[in-house]
Amino acid sequence: MTTLRTLKAWRTLETLAGDLRGVTMRDLFRSDPRRFERMHERLGDFVFDYSKNLVTPAVLEALMSLAREAGVEKRRDAMFRGEKINTTENRAVLHTALRDPTPDPVLVDGKDVKPEIREVQARMAGFVEAVHSGDWLGASGGRITDVVNIGIGGSDLGPRMVVDALEPYRVRDLRVHFVSNVDGTDISRVLAQLTPDNTLFLVASKTFTTQETLANAHTARDWLVKALGRRAVSNHFVALSTNLEAVTEFGIDPEVMFEFWDWVGGRYSLWSAIGLSIALAVGWDTFTRLLAGAHEMDVHFRTAPLEQNIPVLAGLIGFWNIQFLGARATAVLPYDQSLARLPAYLQQADMESTGKRTTLSGETVDYPTGAVLFGEPGTNGQHSFYQMIHQGTHLIPCDFLAPVRSHYPVGRHQAILLANMFAQSEALMTGRTEDEAWAGLADSGLKGEALDTLLPHVVFPGNRPSNTMLFRVLDPETLGRIIALYEHRIHVQATLWNLNAYDQFGVELGKRLAAVVLPELEKKRGALAHDASTNGLIEFFRLWSED
Ligand code: F6P
Repeated sequence: MTTLRTLKAWRTLETLAGDLRGVTMRDLFRSDPRRFERMHERLGDFVFDYSKNLVTPAVLEALMSLAREAGVEKRRDAMFRGEKINTTENRAVLHTALRDPTPDPVLVDGKDVKPEIREVQARMAGFVEAVHSGDWLGASGGRITDVVNIGIGGSDLGPRMVVDALEPYRVRDLRVHFVSNVDGTDISRVLAQLTPDNTLFLVASKTFTTQETLANAHTARDWLVKALGRRAVSNHFVALSTNLEAVTEFGIDPEVMFEFWDWVGGRYSLWSAIGLSIALAVGWDTFTRLLAGAHEMDVHFRTAPLEQNIPVLAGLIGFWNIQFLGARATAVLPYDQSLARLPAYLQQADMESTGKRTTLSGETVDYPTGAVLFGEPGTNGQHSFYQMIHQGTHLIPCDFLAPVRSHYPVGRHQAILLANMFAQSEALMTGRTEDEAWAGLADSGLKGEALDTLLPHVVFPGNRPSNTMLFRVLDPETLGRIIALYEHRIHVQATLWNLNAYDQFGVELGKRLAAVVLPELEKKRGALAHDASTNGLIEFFRLWSED
């Protein structure tokens, strides 16, 4: 038996979930005209509406009690204080310190980490300025026109998502590319667009041991050296890492290594030196605006009462949907093309953090934990998987996100876009009863057997939960708030599930086996000692790669 089920509030929530069977959100909206007023929170120009969830004031109260019993406040404070809450790796979790502009010290092992953060930030700002002004040149004297971030996972997804989202803030004469996949297609397609004289590579890897990143970095270096010679490497390669030794061994000058620390988790690292590609793309001032927005959410998370605390509310409601309403997936649906990469980014942030089955004290859970996260920008998703969200057999809670104002105001587009978003969350909530469906079909002229046959297919069950995050405009501060909100929501949910959100042992086994398989593929001969399927597939590889 794990601790969660023994909490007092758990039993209350179980009872409340039972009481809610047969209750619809329609009823809840009807019986409380102030439901929206009561169930949304605002942080500046950012609104979080959670009223379209199957929750009542009693459920929210019990969730708050659960949060208190489970120690959400205590663990939050321990994180901000720099305690080693990543117990399996014996590390502090301090991505919040990277965006904290205050002079207040944050101690790890008795040492204030703020001075070293400031020092690296000052070096990053100087480097960005040098590249932008043309003080930093390629080996042949050419200006840097293209930057390539080589990294994977947390060393790719965050910066890639943010650079895309902040396109309207881009420094115009610098293009930023991303290479992550070890599939040679990725780097080949990027290199084909570039000239060595004008290209700067950022090798982004916390550990500097990641196979995919090192393979891509070596290919990039060979490409450069072939054109400009070995001495050119120092003008064209910088490193973003915690591993000085491996960076030096690769041949990158420690002078152009931008450091971060083991208390920055990979998937929480876009605020650190890993964000250099962002700063190069949008300029240092805009990068600091992103940090400022995240800091604002940090302060809110740290200080707002639980009842008005956006990440806490988001975490508790997500937890309620999974634990008590049976949701096993969640959709993130940005109605903003600029946030197209947000679902991919959040897949790592969320699923690598809460896709776990072992509690902090080493027991196997007897409750479901992190849900499958997926999503696409609206309205594309509407013409793809929304069918299942509306009428399928799985309950899939949705997060809708949208700016009121677009950076690209074109005719009626923004109104059409937001009309769709508002309509989707309304439709998911209200559904369409059999009577309403019948009336609709009758209005369209259908009758008799034809009407009866079609009727069950056009009924919508409704009662499908969603949150809506509405903001004035997607500026750097708002983007920072959104990312920090999700980070803290993950933290809250992991606390409730009694999981360590900051390790990722689940990615190790496959990596280890790949190291065994690789020589078997490259040598193309030798006995194979895997299962019959793996052996058979390797044999096909050996056969077809000989052609
Ligand atoms: O996929 C596992 C992982 O360790 C992620 O957590 C991390 O973001 C990614 O690999 C990249 O690691 P690194 O930055 O050390 O290259």
